[in-house]
Amino acid sequence: MAGRFRLWCAVLAVVPVVGLVAWLVLGSRAPGSAAATEMGYPDLGGGASMRHSHTGHVAAGPGGNVSVAALLADRTRPADVVVTLTARVEATTMPDGTAFEGYTVNGTTPGPTLTAATGQLVEVRFNNDNIADGATLHWHGINVPNGEDGVAGVTQDAVAAGQTHTYRFVAPAAGTYWYHSHQLSHEQVLRGLLGAIVITAEPNAPASIVPGSDSVDQPPVDFSTGSADVVALLHTYDGRRMIGGRLGDLPVELPVGTVARVRVINTDNGPTQVWVSGAPFRLLAVDGQDLTGPGEVSGVAVTVTAGARADLEVRVPEDGVRVEMPGAAVVLGPARVTPSPTPVPAAELDLLSYGTPAPFGFDPAQADRRFDYRIGRRFGVLEGRPGLWWTVNDRLYPDLPMFMVAEGDVVVMRISNESGEVHPMHLHGHHVTVLTRNGVASTGSPWRVDSLNVRDGESYDVAFVADNPGVWMDHCHNLKHPAEGLIVHLAYDGVSTPFRMGRDTGNVPE
Ligand code: C2O
Ligand code: CU
Repeated sequence: MAGRFRLWCAVLAVVPVVGLVAWLVLGSRAPGSAAATEMGYPDLGGGASMRHSHTGHVAAGPGGNVSVAALLADRTRPADVVVTLTARVEATTMPDGTAFEGYTVNGTTPGPTLTAATGQLVEVRFNNDNIADGATLHWHGINVPNGEDGVAGVTQDAVAAGQTHTYRFVAPAAGTYWYHSHQLSHEQVLRGLLGAIVITAEPNAPASIVPGSDSVDQPPVDFSTGSADVVALLHTYDGRRMIGGRLGDLPVELPVGTVARVRVINTDNGPTQVWVSGAPFRLLAVDGQDLTGPGEVSGVAVTVTAGARADLEVRVPEDGVRVEMPGAAVVLGPARVTPSPTPVPAAELDLLSYGTPAPFGFDPAQADRRFDYRIGRRFGVLEGRPGLWWTVNDRLYPDLPMFMVAEGDVVVMRISNESGEVHPMHLHGHHVTVLTRNGVASTGSPWRVDSLNVRDGESYDVAFVADNPGVWMDHCHNLKHPAEGLIVHLAYDGVSTPFRMGRDTGNVPE
């Protein structure tokens, strides 16, 4: 009798707990189909309220409502550069001969390096050959019109297997960029659906190449100026760090005295260090944005966060020079030289004070809106899964802020991180200028990024002009993290999206 009583007590005690868990789990499910602009809650950043909305969400209203699908490059302008890129999932051989199963673009991973000159209209015909989940191309760091941004469920539907989608955009400032799928990106980027884009200042500049790719084994050397251009796209395939799809040291034969621009592209999920053994270097550009007055340095490492790029300039000395990353290096010099590797320097090149100041082109003191993007972590239930999840301003996905701006606004955003891990924060469609780090003001070159390394405990104030209308992702580029809820959007007043994401739509951008 007492035993039965105790059993009933136990049952009655468990029922509310089960009920509570069920309620949390069901209540946490992101909708199976939602527009980005319906999710979370509007955050006006202390600025003026929006013309086109009542709730603060982007409203489809009469007068002035624009669909992201209408925000395209000039459709009447003929293309200057036309490229066809075909993505496939397949078993293949890497450029260095090792077997690989994953995604390719035109048969290789990384895919071909695209080149164009600033101001040219680039047209990319994208074919998804056989990727059953669908795929897209996103132009990382290129501030394309929103409708060309390639985010499944936000700016387009994922391109189904057997289908084609055409992207058109004007090539931006000369610099180093990359492309990758933005459908199931935590899986498709990791497994190779990516490639480099180099924008040159002049048309017909010597084409850049991925060193080691089968077509060309050496970089173009311009003997009239003694300069060379090398793309070093870093990606970890099945746990192996490779540059341009090749394992180990990548030799690039160059005459002594050649001035080489080495374009490091970090397509991995975590930050990498880059340093130079055997010669001093200058850091010419970050994320496709030239630095002003970049001086020669040595004995320091450059942190290149996930998604970011760094263009290093070295002059090839007699004994050659190594541009090093942990587990991978580009070796530049005459044939058969073997410059010695050095360990990663403890000192870091601090971009807060590197180079010389120059005007920003806008006044952050006159900000129209100020946003907080505060990253934390706590227990909760995300899409039915209990666990330790990322938070933004103390909330869990999808209950996150929608940062609302009007075209022309000067925007200041404080990105802070108390989550225990580093986050490479990437805003689509804009470059942000770093104002301060941990309250210390930038005193060097204007430091403009599309991907910012925010370490645990750090806080950055960044600013930008809202000059590219649309609905833009603003997420962590450790692509596992957006899949764990670290994903918000920046939305312009009066812009709406007809596309939907979620498990019922086939669009899974993260
Ligand atoms: Cu490199 Cu949202 O992407
Ligand atoms: Cu992250």
